[in-house]
Amino acid sequence: MTRLWVVVILLSGQTLAAPIDTRVHLGVASCAAGVCHGKGAQDQQSNVWLNEFRIWSADDRHARAYQTLLTDESKTIAAKLGLPSAQGAKICLDCHADNVQTSKRGPKFQISDGVGCEACHGGAESWIETHTEPDATHRSNLAQGMLATEDINVRAQICLSCHLGTANQFATHQILGAGHPRLRFELEAFTQNQPPHFSVDADYRERKGAPSGFEVWRAGQLQAAIRYVELLNSPLYPGDGWLPDFAFYDCHACHHPMDDVRWHASRRGQGLLPGSPRLQDQHLLMIRALAEASNTAVVPTLTQLTDNLLQAGQKGEDAVHGAATELAAWLKQQDWLKSGDDRSTATRKAIAELAAQGVLSDFAHAEQAFMGLETLSIHIGDARGLQSRLDELFDTVESDETFSPSKFRAAARRLLNAL
Ligand code: HEC
Ligand code: HEC
Ligand code: HEC
Ligand code: HEC
Repeated sequence: MTRLWVVVILLSGQTLAAPIDTRVHLGVASCAAGVCHGKGAQDQQSNVWLNEFRIWSADDRHARAYQTLLTDESKTIAAKLGLPSAQGAKICLDCHADNVQTSKRGPKFQISDGVGCEACHGGAESWIETHTEPDATHRSNLAQGMLATEDINVRAQICLSCHLGTANQFATHQILGAGHPRLRFELEAFTQNQPPHFSVDADYRERKGAPSGFEVWRAGQLQAAIRYVELLNSPLYPGDGWLPDFAFYDCHACHHPMDDVRWHASRRGQGLLPGSPRLQDQHLLMIRALAEASNTAVVPTLTQLTDNLLQAGQKGEDAVHGAATELAAWLKQQDWLKSGDDRSTATRKAIAELAAQGVLSDFAHAEQAFMGLETLSIHIGDARGLQSRLDELFDTVESDETFSPSKFRAAARRLLNAL
């Protein structure tokens, strides 16, 4: 698992509109000229760096996403799935490249560019000319169709389209079973871990605002929870066979040694039966921590809706669709998750408490809890002082192969005592 130790503060915006991108994609070569975004070093005169292409091509894994499809690992995955090749398969290209329809590709577009500028910023057809004009503003660029990556809810949706999936591009259990790595996502950590090609300075704040690490983390949890329950409502959940797609369930409910019995009595309180897989609820549990810290009145409803969903996951498709619909509607109404005070200290404590109580018992819970605890500590500013406790907690989630719920819980208790 990756970690981050840099502190940078980011941007703002609160709409829930899905990013819609229907413009022609001109290709990275259209952005990369030496006088445009391909300078050798940061340009001191301009408000943006103008060396974004250099950073992306040298250090950003998105630039290598297509090349990944040519590796032996991808060849093996493709062969197991019965695909002639990975780089020729739509299902792989949809997330490992900017795979827009052929009619939406400009003359310089190359699929081998991988996840290029326009995969995140939107097709540049309608703004490539205007965005360099002297009177261009960020607002006028957005009006021309540039995607609002500075809006953290929109950004979360863009990233999640590949890092969790959509109804059309998804890492099914078949793809995972063929060897694809398990996907996990936390917006603030992943924003920080992408090599930065922008800086949030005074000029940036003036143009785009600057949400805090807490706000970015919160937006990521909300959008991931909404995306997950919406995917449960798509045709992906029942899948093609007589069993639902296992990718929606907690991986480690099935994938751990049998002599390490993890079922505990509290799950019976949730209405769950031993020996059955559980749907994933790691993002819902992070939202529960947010609720414990900022809006305790909603905790009983959220807990009930989550339990209903988990129980439905042991009943069948209709029950899942019903519970997911209710939960999606509820999540979208929670305006307190889109604005409001900085409750980072109380939220961090709530995560540590849920972990120390053993509520966060699955590996995916523990992984999100660790990322949240570290992200929020960096935001709060005391991560250095807590470093040995965070390191100890990291050791317990570093590998899902050796994950032990009791060791995680004990490390969480020690961190809680240090807060
Ligand atoms: C079009 C699909 C797509 C979009 C959109 C996308 N990513 Fe990715 N991302 C990928 C793929 C594929 C990889 C893995 C690339 C590889 O190594 O081959 C990746 C890798 C990463 C990594 C490295 C992961 C690691 O384990 O170190 C980070 C960080 C990341 N993405 C952050 C983001 C963020 C933040 C956003 C949104 C602003 C985003 N991504 C949007 C497809 C996407
Ligand atoms: C839903 C989007 C999605 C789909 C579909 C998808 N991938 Fe990925 N893939 C990702 C992301 C995101 C990562 C990076 C995961 C991370 O590090 O968090 C990744 C990582 C990988 C890696 C590991 C790369 C590394 O450097 O560690 C391989 C190999 C890979 N994908 C191959 C494939 C192949 C082959 C297919 C088609 C069968 C495919 N992927 C389909 C999103 C996807
Ligand atoms: C994985 C998603 C992703 C990819 C790929 C990507 N960007 Fe970005 N970019 C972002 C995010 C997120 C931000 C920060 C939010 C914002 O300012 O809009 C950003 C910001 C920017 C900014 C604004 C800086 C400022 O000060 O306002 C520029 C310019 C930019 N990117 C250019 C590029 C170029 C050129 C490429 C391709 C070489 C590229 N980006 C590739 C996600 C991406
Ligand atoms: C309901 C139980 C269940 C869940 C939940 C589940 N799997 Fe599986 N998984 C299986 C079964 C059954 C197989 C087939 C094992 C075999 O062929 O020996 C399998 C196979 C695999 C394999 C191939 C392993 C091998 O040895 O061939 C991988 C990798 C994998 N799953 C990953 C995942 C990931 C990642 C998740 C969570 C997103 C997940 N699984 C969720 C039951 C499950």
